[in-house]
Amino acid sequence: MKGVFALLLAAASAAWATFWMEDIAHRGIAPFNPDRSYTVFRNVRDFGAKGDGSTDDTTAINAAISSGERCGGYACAGSTTTPAVVYFPPGTYLITAPIVNFYYTQIIGDPNDMPTIMGSPSFPVNAIALLDGDRYLSNGKLNFQATNVFFRQIRNLIFDTRNIRGNATAIHWPSSQATLIQNCAFRLSSREGDIHTGIFMEEGSGGMITDLVFHGGKYGARFGNQQYTMRNLTFYGSDTGIEQIWNWGWTYKSLRFFGCNVGINMSSWDVGSVTLLDSSFVNVTTALVTGRNPGIDTGIGSLVVQNVEYRNVPTVLKGRDGQPLLLGDPNGTVRDGGYARGNVYAPKGPRLLEGRNFIFSQPSTLKLGNRYYERSKPQYEHYPVTVFVSAREHQAVGDGVADDTGALNTLFRAASNTSQIVFLDAGYYKVTDTLYIPPDTRIVGEGLAAVIMGAGKNFADESHPRPVVQVGRPGDVGRVEMSDIIVSTQGATAGAIMIQYNLNTAAAENMCAPGRPPSGLWDVHTRVGGFAGSQLQAAECPITPDQANVINSACISGYMSMHITSSARNLYVENSWLWVADHDIEHVNSTRINVFVARGLLVEGTQIWLVGSSVEHHTMYQYQLVNASDIWMGQIQTETPYYQPNPPAPYPFTRNPDLWDPDFDYDCHRHADSNSVGLRETFPCEMAWGLRVVSSRNVVVFGAGLYSFFNNYNTSCSTAMAGESCQARIFWVGGETGDNNTGLFAVEMYNLNTIGSNLATFASTLAAFRC
Ligand SMILES: *[C@@H]1O[C@H](CO)[C@@H](O)[C@H](O)[C@H]1NC(C)=O
Ligand SMILES: *[C@@H]1O[C@H](CO)[C@@H](O)[C@H](O)[C@H]1NC(C)=O
Ligand SMILES: *[C@@H]1O[C@H](CO)[C@@H](O)[C@H](O)[C@H]1NC(C)=O
Ligand SMILES: *[C@@H]1O[C@H](CO)[C@@H](O)[C@H](O)[C@H]1NC(C)=O
Ligand SMILES: *[C@@H]1O[C@H](CO)[C@@H](O)[C@H](O)[C@H]1NC(C)=O
Ligand SMILES: *[C@@H]1O[C@H](CO)[C@@H](O)[C@H](O)[C@H]1NC(C)=O
Ligand SMILES: *[C@@H]1O[C@H](CO)[C@@H](O)[C@H](O)[C@H]1NC(C)=O
Ligand SMILES: *[C@@H]1O[C@H](CO)[C@@H](O)[C@H](O)[C@H]1NC(C)=O
Ligand SMILES: *[C@@H]1O[C@H](CO)[C@@H](O)[C@H](O)[C@H]1NC(C)=O
Ligand SMILES: *[C@@H]1O[C@H](CO)[C@@H](O)[C@H](O)[C@H]1NC(C)=O
Repeated sequence: MKGVFALLLAAASAAWATFWMEDIAHRGIAPFNPDRSYTVFRNVRDFGAKGDGSTDDTTAINAAISSGERCGGYACAGSTTTPAVVYFPPGTYLITAPIVNFYYTQIIGDPNDMPTIMGSPSFPVNAIALLDGDRYLSNGKLNFQATNVFFRQIRNLIFDTRNIRGNATAIHWPSSQATLIQNCAFRLSSREGDIHTGIFMEEGSGGMITDLVFHGGKYGARFGNQQYTMRNLTFYGSDTGIEQIWNWGWTYKSLRFFGCNVGINMSSWDVGSVTLLDSSFVNVTTALVTGRNPGIDTGIGSLVVQNVEYRNVPTVLKGRDGQPLLLGDPNGTVRDGGYARGNVYAPKGPRLLEGRNFIFSQPSTLKLGNRYYERSKPQYEHYPVTVFVSAREHQAVGDGVADDTGALNTLFRAASNTSQIVFLDAGYYKVTDTLYIPPDTRIVGEGLAAVIMGAGKNFADESHPRPVVQVGRPGDVGRVEMSDIIVSTQGATAGAIMIQYNLNTAAAENMCAPGRPPSGLWDVHTRVGGFAGSQLQAAECPITPDQANVINSACISGYMSMHITSSARNLYVENSWLWVADHDIEHVNSTRINVFVARGLLVEGTQIWLVGSSVEHHTMYQYQLVNASDIWMGQIQTETPYYQPNPPAPYPFTRNPDLWDPDFDYDCHRHADSNSVGLRETFPCEMAWGLRVVSSRNVVVFGAGLYSFFNNYNTSCSTAMAGESCQARIFWVGGETGDNNTGLFAVEMYNLNTIGSNLATFASTLAAFRC
């Protein structure tokens, strides 16, 4: 169908009284919660919140979050059975104590008339935040371990701390994968003596944050985390826009600073690296402060800057000691096409680099104008509720038991034909065969609690892999949008490809034409094992570090998490976590489990953006690019399975040469490359690749964290004392066979951080790399 969504774009120009999410019938369920009356959707008004700016709404809001025996107390480390959407209609909600967030909560305001969370003058100055994403318990520990804080979002809210005298913070956000803050504003005091902060984040393994505006404050935000991707943040008059407390890698894109004293202060010696793209500083005294003073030759404070403008900025970069390292123009504009400060490893390295005019290849197909393409998750806020069709209203049951294959396939076909938006109510949609998403379909899930779960014999055969969700068939032309959906499996499903993406959007649309964006997946995750209903929990899939090569075949539950095939063109993926569970989320001790999925994300397509993604615990590789071209990857993150090398890769799977699977036997035992022999004999070699790039071109990686913490569940190998020796190799770029560099064109990687694999490739350790 041509002119996709045209009808709706016209309809969208009208103003709608209420956000569809408030109006729509709330049919979402949590089927694996034993309480059949458990309610997912909560409107804070139904709990007595007034939103009138004068009533104290603290108790009502906290009741909306906590009601229904949810996971938020001492005895709960995590839970997928108590998801909630906590919704705020327009209004000003006065609070006198923190709003305390629980596990698996989406806190969402009306984007058409954003509600304000207002701290009252009596708000305690020593309270950690207006909205405490993860509270500190009396034992000094966070309620939820920061690296296990998953599946939560905050959207469309204004946080106002200005009535609070002294110290105040709007959001406390230790956070990890599958989390998001989107479209929020912060109004912070800049009064003398006040220390106000928009977001305070001290730990975790994130994550994605987009579309925030900070007004004032001592700090717009203070960020510390392993890694993160953040986009479209604007700071007006904050003393320091961003204080980077610590990190391994961080990708910032489209930041704007106006009238700040300092833009980004990354001078802490705990800062590993920062990538800053497509940004601007206006009327800022010092744009950047670094801890990487001249002469430092470690990886500390590596900085990559591309396409950044400084207007009326006297100092672009200052050292920790206050020395100016790069000057701007106090009364004019300076533009940095490319600046890099760190170690360069290609063609040979390490070689110290501190300089402007660093040339980046910048594939034009990945840009719109002079900036890399970006698009935030659509919230469809201008559409009336009548445009949405509920899955549970249209014969899908979503109870994790009924087979919803037929109902959903019928619904997707019909919705794509009529340009309606499918609303996948919270629930578990068990499917026994492939769900086909036709071109021109839009699907939005409820509360990250809409789970599509492949089950049964159709997905059981490793020699006949089959997609659970297939987006387009090879040759299909058109566009799709999907958001807030989890694709999963149940039980033994060795042949399941969670998502197979085939659609060609480039052939349908000219992406540069206004209103003609690429296809998009936002907050679409895969999750295998470790949750109630998966049949892959602590009881079924215990770890076996004390036994050699023991596999429970009932815990082999995937062929591949996601395949972007060679027919795929022009796809934007943002905030995607492809996770094979390493632990049982429901278990009070977060007990570890052994679940096996052969492959992570295989990309063979063209013109693909992977913005804020992570792929973890797959047996052969996390990311693999084969004959792919025009690929943008920005802060990618991986973890090697904790069990390896017991069993060694690719066991329990068999290599499929048609998919260009790595050949561990050849690489680790028969390969003659002199660089590799010493490594593979000294360190475990039959370990999953973090990133493997084969015969691909125009690949830009802005930030990568490839981590290997364990050998057979023992972390000794990842300590500095052990020389970070968990695996001999974790990253590879090369030609078809892996023997030489043929077929290797314009692959660039900036700010690579590895754990447990100090000698990252056959050739060298890479921190900034280009061919
Ligand atoms: C405010 O924060 C500063 C700096 O962290 C700290 O020294 C001070 O004690 C805090 N004041 C209060 C009242 O908590
Ligand atoms: C950036 O964020 C602002 C504030 O949420 C929003 O209005 C704007 O549309 C966003 N820009 C892009 C390019 O997404
Ligand atoms: C940058 O942050 C450090 C703390 O990490 C602080 O000591 C220093 O004063 C800050 N620099 C500027 C210019 O604000
Ligand atoms: C920057 O400062 C100049 C001079 O004070 C002022 O005219 C201009 O409006 C400011 N620009 C912005 C974007 O704040
Ligand atoms: C900045 O430039 C303007 C216009 O060129 C000029 O009038 C002004 O005096 C300059 N200010 C400074 C501080 O150099
Ligand atoms: C799609 O719409 C057309 C025209 O409205 C109709 O004839 C056709 O039967 C529809 N197809 C499906 C699969 O619903
Ligand atoms: C959790 O760990 C504690 C302390 O090690 C132990 O006493 C308890 O039995 C464990 N709980 C379960 C359900 O395994
Ligand atoms: C690689 O991709 C190009 C198009 O980008 C295609 O023409 C070629 O056949 C592909 N090669 C292989 C080995 O798949
Ligand atoms: C982990 O490995 C180290 C080094 O090989 C060894 O000393 C230690 O005992 C192991 N720990 C466990 C719990 O097996
Ligand atoms: C690279 O590998 C290919 C495939 O094995 C082989 O055909 C080619 O001759 C090799 N090229 C070089 C320069 O070694």
